Amino acid sequence: MIHKQYIFKNAEETARAIAELIKGKANYYKSESRLLNIALSGGSTPKQLFQLLADEYENQIPWAAVRFFWVDERCVEPTDAESNYGVAYDTLFQKSFIPAENIFRMKGEDVPTEEAKRYAKLLYDELPVWNQFPVFDLMLLGIGDDGHTASIFPYNIELLNSELSVEVSQHPLSRQKRITLTGKTICNAEQIIFMAVGENKSKILKEIINKEAVAEKYPASYIKNRVGEVEFYMDILAAKDI
Ligand code: 6PG
Repeated sequence: MIHKQYIFKNAEETARAIAELIKGKANYYKSESRLLNIALSGGSTPKQLFQLLADEYENQIPWAAVRFFWVDERCVEPTDAESNYGVAYDTLFQKSFIPAENIFRMKGEDVPTEEAKRYAKLLYDELPVWNQFPVFDLMLLGIGDDGHTASIFPYNIELLNSELSVEVSQHPLSRQKRITLTGKTICNAEQIIFMAVGENKSKILKEIINKEAVAEKYPASYIKNRVGEVEFYMDILAAKDI
């Protein structure tokens, strides 16, 4: 497993580095007449990235060449404050410069088992397939302080090896139902980036990046792409104990 680490002075510079990466990839893919398929996570960390893209990247990214999918979703209405799509919509996707047909949200409001099936079929219809699983170009992941990523938690870590690309999950504390990509689809991505900022991430990042024994129970510890690489984009607070 190759952990590539990129450390920035603060959360904004971390978000900007990922925005610049998306800009570079999108322009390259456009020059190759290819579509850049990105899977987005929810939670609080991506908000700054979405805001930055909305405020500063309208004319820098060929948005028609970029398609957005989700890593996971909470089983709530899209207008609910807990909705991952809702947060992304309010900060970025309501902007008219992003083609609506390029946005493939998980429908958290629908029956979870049905939506997991629908979304899995959509991925096989829309994305290239390698080794029987869909292939994203860029997977943007977050990490919880319990070592979860997407909605794969320590208690249901077996979702890392599921033969289904999308499954129903549940938050261990809130019991909130979730829809999530599973391990073989996540790890099938060309490029995988964990975005983590703030001091509250420092302990979990130290344990995972230093490959401490306790990290064996963390789903995030097993995430790597097809060539065994995973990238960590962190601010100095999150990286302080590595
Ligand atoms: C979700 C996410 C989840 C998130 C982590 C980190 O729906 O909650 O996709 O996996 O990335 O919980 O969340 P924060 O960015 O809020 O710390």
